[in-house]
Amino acid sequence: MKCLIAYFSQTNSTRKIAESIGKELTVYDWEVDFKNIKEDKSVNIEEYDLFGFGTPVYYYRLPFLVKDFLQSLPDLKNKPVFSFITYGTYYFGVPVEINNILKEKSTHNIGFFAARGADKYLGYLKQGVLLSDGHPNKRELTQAKHFANSLLKYFQEESNSENIYKLKKENKKGIIYNFESLLTKALS
Ligand SMILES: Cc1cc2nc3c(=O)[nH]c(=O)nc-3n(C[C@H](O)[C@H](O)[C@H](O)COP(=O)(O)O)c2cc1C
Repeated sequence: MKCLIAYFSQTNSTRKIAESIGKELTVYDWEVDFKNIKEDKSVNIEEYDLFGFGTPVYYYRLPFLVKDFLQSLPDLKNKPVFSFITYGTYYFGVPVEINNILKEKSTHNIGFFAARGADKYLGYLKQGVLLSDGHPNKRELTQAKHFANSLLKYFQEESNSENIYKLKKENKKGIIYNFESLLTKALS
């Protein structure tokens, strides 16, 4: 299975979360490609089973670069997508903004993760003190791994439901087996 993780990160907080998620997926034999969309926005999502993207919050919104990138994507035809954000203090309506864009692209989030990042925005610095220094911390990076695990469950459930479907289909043609099953039923 292949996963593409695209992210935008100027001061590395979002990149750290992206790498934590990606590393956990590779433990389960997933092939993971990373793309820093500041360097290169070209992606071929069709070749991936799962598409994830990560972004910092800028002025309580998606950064323009990220919004443009998402809007430039082709129709995602129900492709499983996950998203993650990092923020300093408040992320307000960003998850809704993401969901709206995904809806326009004919898909939805199978998972969303938010963690605090080291906020180095000058507007929030008070006498050189960072509001969220040291983030994402060890605990948040571990949570990102748990998040990756929750994404895997989506694929396990998908294959389970496929199996159940197959079983039901096989059951349909085997009326004789149903009769046999009735005859061999344990008597109470
Ligand atoms: C221009 C700018 C605007 C920001 N606006 C917000 C904001 O509205 N809310 C918030 O919680 N954090 C805000 N932040 C903090 C970033 O979202 C946070 O530091 C993020 O983790 C940075 O990610 P990066 O290190 O991957 O670039 C802002 C940071 C910058 C540089």
